[in-house]
Amino acid sequence: MTETHRLLIAIVSIGLYMLWVAVLFFKHRKQYNYAVSGEETLVVYASQTGTAEKIARAKAAALSQQEQTSVVSMASLKLNTLSSVSKVIFVVSTYGEGEPPDAGRTFSKALKKASSNQSDYLSHLSFEVVGLGDKQYAAFCQFAVTLFDNISALGARALSPLTTLDSG
Ligand SMILES: Cc1cc2nc3c(=O)[nH]c(=O)nc-3n(C[C@H](O)[C@H](O)[C@H](O)COP(=O)(O)O)c2cc1C
Repeated sequence: MTETHRLLIAIVSIGLYMLWVAVLFFKHRKQYNYAVSGEETLVVYASQTGTAEKIARAKAAALSQQEQTSVVSMASLKLNTLSSVSKVIFVVSTYGEGEPPDAGRTFSKALKKASSNQSDYLSHLSFEVVGLGDKQYAAFCQFAVTLFDNISALGARALSPLTTLDSG
């Protein structure tokens, strides 16, 4: 067997391995699209370095004493999941210049698109938003503000005004 043959075998093996990893990744992602029952309160976090996630989990732990509660990253949340939920609590940080953290990008885009139609798609839904940010940034908690406005534009009912927390 020549050097070239060995090289070809190595390249094909690596290619097959990467294909296998990609198949596993997409299979897992598909399974992870979150399913909920209408009875439960959904606590959704969008966090880059873990602070919002910690707060979301603490909130969910406290709530679970009184009601059925689930916690999920915004990265796994589809907009249509909210059509089968009656109450949702968002705990989100802000990055860039008022942008969502990576985990919130896809959901945020879908929400923005839907809310530009100003429908009553989420009129069955009650919600709260807790925003984490830093007042040193001009766009303090901007993602939380945008989220609050876009959810409201779809007819959802705010259970309380937007809460903002300054990490600075
Ligand atoms: C690169 C960078 C950009 C940020 N941009 C903003 C911003 O535009 N507005 C804001 O209020 N906070 C901003 N922050 C602060 C974070 O939102 C804040 O530290 C938050 O508590 C982080 O929460 P997390 O750990 O859940 O991601 C930024 C932080 C970093 C590191």
